[in-house]
Amino acid sequence: MTISIKTAEDVQGMRVAGRLASEVLDMLGPLVKPGITTGEIDRIAHDYMVNVQGGTPATLGYGPPGYPPYPASLCTSINEQVCHGIPDERVLKNGDIVNIDVTVIKDGWHGDNSRMYIVGEGSIAAKRLCAVTFDAMWKGIVKVKPGARLGDIGHAIQTFAENQGYTVVREFCGHGVGRKFHEEPQVLHYGRPGTLEELVPGMIFTIEPMINAGKREIKEDRKGGKPYDGWTIVTKDRSLSAQWEHTILVTDTGYEVLTLSAGSPPPPAFVGT
Ligand code: MF3
Ligand code: CO
Ligand code: CO
Repeated sequence: MTISIKTAEDVQGMRVAGRLASEVLDMLGPLVKPGITTGEIDRIAHDYMVNVQGGTPATLGYGPPGYPPYPASLCTSINEQVCHGIPDERVLKNGDIVNIDVTVIKDGWHGDNSRMYIVGEGSIAAKRLCAVTFDAMWKGIVKVKPGARLGDIGHAIQTFAENQGYTVVREFCGHGVGRKFHEEPQVLHYGRPGTLEELVPGMIFTIEPMINAGKREIKEDRKGGKPYDGWTIVTKDRSLSAQWEHTILVTDTGYEVLTLSAGSPPPPAFVGT
């Protein structure tokens, strides 16, 4: 098993898919308000990906071994939900934080990204967690260049998040992405510098740290006696969790973020121009 190296032509395809995935998140921004359901967000995004973008939602029907087919066109993970929340009739309320994770397939290429949205007025604690997690993702992104190693990315994210008093989820990681949704390598969001795979131009992978306000442990979300939906993950201590995700290309001199669009939040000040 090896990490695929994308050609210049492949990269063009990934740029399109990445921009489209980001534009779905742009389009959804104004809709994420108190009163909307996550199911409504899902239906609107599905319609946009299929009918406006001429693409396909990669998550719909996605079912790796051991998982039931995922039943929606994006993931909505609210408050203590860490990842893979399934859209349903739940109404978003003032103060909720929600991660929306969108993966668009266009001409066979996958663009994968997610953002945090604060519903109405967020608490100071919620806003700080979302902001620190955004910066943590970027602390990892700026490590990307030929000759660097995957452990450098994980270490940068982990030390930053832990210095802010937060914890890093270990069980889920970033991943290679291209013609397949999840390819090699695994991109851990913790680790030691100078370890693991060396980065080479043409590699494309996601960086998508999940950061908890409380302890790092997670569990399946068994909502009060209902059968498990097979996907939703929550923090074990029910503390808030946040996540941001970009798809990143290793270039000859550094990195290119493929999941950018007009509405992307600007990089933090520590990211050089
Ligand atoms: N988009 C997620 C990721 O970043 C994967 C979601 S798989 C699903 O890798 F089936 F839960 F949608
Ligand atoms: Co991903
Ligand atoms: Co994703």
